[in-house]
Amino acid sequence: DARAIYPSPAASVENIAHRGASGHAPESTLSAFRLAVRMGADRVELDVQQSRDGELMTIHDSTLDRTTDGHGKVREHDRAQLKRLDAGAWFKNKHPQHRIDYQDARIPTLDEVLHSLGTEGRYCIEIKEGLPTNTADQVLATLSRHQLLQTQSPEQVIIQSFDPAVLKQIHQKHPELTLIQLIHYRQAGSLSRGGLQRIATYADGIGFHHRRMEREDIRRAHREGLRIHAYTVNQKKKMRRLLDWDVDAICTDFPDRLREVKREQ
Ligand code: G3P
Ligand code: CA
Repeated sequence: DARAIYPSPAASVENIAHRGASGHAPESTLSAFRLAVRMGADRVELDVQQSRDGELMTIHDSTLDRTTDGHGKVREHDRAQLKRLDAGAWFKNKHPQHRIDYQDARIPTLDEVLHSLGTEGRYCIEIKEGLPTNTADQVLATLSRHQLLQTQSPEQVIIQSFDPAVLKQIHQKHPELTLIQLIHYRQAGSLSRGGLQRIATYADGIGFHHRRMEREDIRRAHREGLRIHAYTVNQKKKMRRLLDWDVDAICTDFPDRLREVKREQ
């Protein structure tokens, strides 16, 4: 019985802060990650890209234009150039009523995020598609430097990707790491039993877009021994429904809302 293997009372559903508390502070900045922890998130989600000189930078887009005052591709800039960019002013422009100015916000390196939240931090690191093939190894090396591969708490770090090749590469080297296969919005709901079983050979779970997630998808994933995470859920009503459906984790821009909803249960 899948429920016996994966009991998911609301209290155990993980509250994952998507790009930090990105509904309240500029996404993927140290301010957003620290705020997420203060708001009661169990884990912070972050995306990595590579700079031209090979530094892992914590930024979602492959380009700079949406969330910084820079232009063009992340990978066409060196770390030093990227660190000079303002990664907070756009948020104030988008939310003029917001009382805090984030003009000193910078793009953090992965190293800086891990240093900031420390060895007690819990992370969900997404390796984007189309990055240089050494990216997964670099992420592992960075985790190792922060003693996060040698951790006694096996679930302290989750690595997720839409790219199965990246996850398989990591699984071969570190089968103990918890891996989540992200499923694109357009594929959600179309996974066959065989597809889920193939994912279960290298990953621990799947991440689905919440708008495409049905109760039956959760049951089917659980039957194959996979956990199931919903991304990116910001409405309390939808959070309540997913808790009711026994989802295992919810990724949200508003970890404070999810915390409130979990307390109601
Ligand atoms: O947790 C899944 C989610 O982060 C994937 O989408 O585009 O926000 O990285 P995206
Ligand atoms: Ca992500």
